[in-house]
Amino acid sequence: MNGNQNRVPKIGVMDSGMGGLSVLKELLELPYSADFLYYGDLAHAPYGEKKTFEVLELTRNVCNFLLKEEVDAILLACNTATSASASKLREELSVPVFGMEPAIKPALLAHPGEKIALLATSVTHREEKLQELKSELDASERVVHLNCDGLASLVDAGKSQEAKLLLKNILEIPKQQGIKALVLGCTHYVFLKNEIKELYPEAILHDGNQGTVRHLVRSLHLEEKPGHPTHTLYFSSETNGEKTASFAHKLLTFGFAEPT
Ligand code: DGL
Repeated sequence: MNGNQNRVPKIGVMDSGMGGLSVLKELLELPYSADFLYYGDLAHAPYGEKKTFEVLELTRNVCNFLLKEEVDAILLACNTATSASASKLREELSVPVFGMEPAIKPALLAHPGEKIALLATSVTHREEKLQELKSELDASERVVHLNCDGLASLVDAGKSQEAKLLLKNILEIPKQQGIKALVLGCTHYVFLKNEIKELYPEAILHDGNQGTVRHLVRSLHLEEKPGHPTHTLYFSSETNGEKTASFAHKLLTFGFAEPT
């Protein structure tokens, strides 16, 4: 990391919208001093239904914004952005770039001999990064791909009932096939854990958030900086910024469902 060792590291965290807040939430619970700058690109969401080169371009623009804010590292808290751009941006950018990986490996290990189902965006499902991971793990026959188009947008819009209805359809396949291990391969879906458990109580959920957080902490030596994290949120959509900010605050504090 640049400069003075005592300075609080500034870490950019990006997503297409609200999903990356599920990762930021975990980062903010850590006892380390770090200054997190979150950027949700709501004006261009969802990323997951776009062409790969468009996602690369959008992600690069967000990273350039974060670099102007002088971040020391960037976390692509978005599986879609990671699939479409992480390897390219690691070559291009002057700071370390971290990304997400669907928790396929832990899910396969926890359910030996069983099939697992991956909930992810179209970009993540089709990109090379996932194909490589599956072949590395020799898991091509064991991963069932579930198309979740539309789901991330419902999370961004705070539409929990509609998200639940769409999920009901998506979960028909694993239910019918008796697949219990579900991998949440999109950071938005981590906010839907309660809804998924209500619809499919036998499901066992796996996500990549903790693995990513551990990797980032270790790589940036955050353990050497005890203290409290701070954060600032930016969103690219200007439409009703106040409503966006208060929804983001609710997600960071309570999660997606209304507190009862
Ligand atoms: N949060 C993003 C992910 O982890 C994608 C949502 C979108 O389609 O924009 O894949």
